[in-house]
Amino acid sequence: MAPSEDKRDKHFPVFALDNPLRRLFGSPRKYCSYVKQEQIVADLGCGPGFYTFALAKSVGPQGRIYAVDSDEKAIRTVKRKAAKRQCDNVEAHASSAADLSFIEDDSVDFVLADGLLCSVAPQDHESAVREIKRILKPDGKAFLSVAKGRMSYVDKAEWEGILEGFKVELRNYESFFEDRWALVSKKH
Ligand SMILES: C[S@@+](CC[C@H](N)C(=O)[O-])C[C@H]1O[C@@H](n2cnc3c(N)ncnc32)[C@H](O)[C@@H]1O
Repeated sequence: MAPSEDKRDKHFPVFALDNPLRRLFGSPRKYCSYVKQEQIVADLGCGPGFYTFALAKSVGPQGRIYAVDSDEKAIRTVKRKAAKRQCDNVEAHASSAADLSFIEDDSVDFVLADGLLCSVAPQDHESAVREIKRILKPDGKAFLSVAKGRMSYVDKAEWEGILEGFKVELRNYESFFEDRWALVSKKH
């Protein structure tokens, strides 16, 4: 793709991703059953941390959450919340998921990429997916979800292609109400 055709990452207002109303439709603890004490988690496209702090509680002080978002405003909010709540196990990075060089290979137990890939600029999808595979432990799991519709940067065909690169543990099929999602691990 020529540079002039490059699209930008989609960013969202902090209040849209983290407000009391959102809790009426889903719990911040939605992904906590995927993690255990002392585990390492990467919350990619964490936004202002709707899921981050529930995960931080679940892995405990000996665990670690890498909270990553390319939106500096969202990361500033995560850092402010982490300081206020004394969550020393949350390490926030204003960075694209296409470059996670601050995370070691095969080191992460659980990757959360909720609404990430449909927001990452299309020219970076391949790198972001490569990075998820690189950081996951051989027995690690990743939860990927993407929005549907014209505003999403991932269509059905691309979604199926992404899943082909992983071992799919669990997934949904076309549903009017739900985003596309899958629980995956690395192919060995
Ligand atoms: C739909 S929101 C989901 C936020 C969060 N996971 C949640 O559920 O509250 C997508 C997030 O991905 C972030 N994002 C977009 N492109 C990104 C990139 N290249 N790397 C990391 N984060 C990105 C956006 O800034 C936004 O916070």
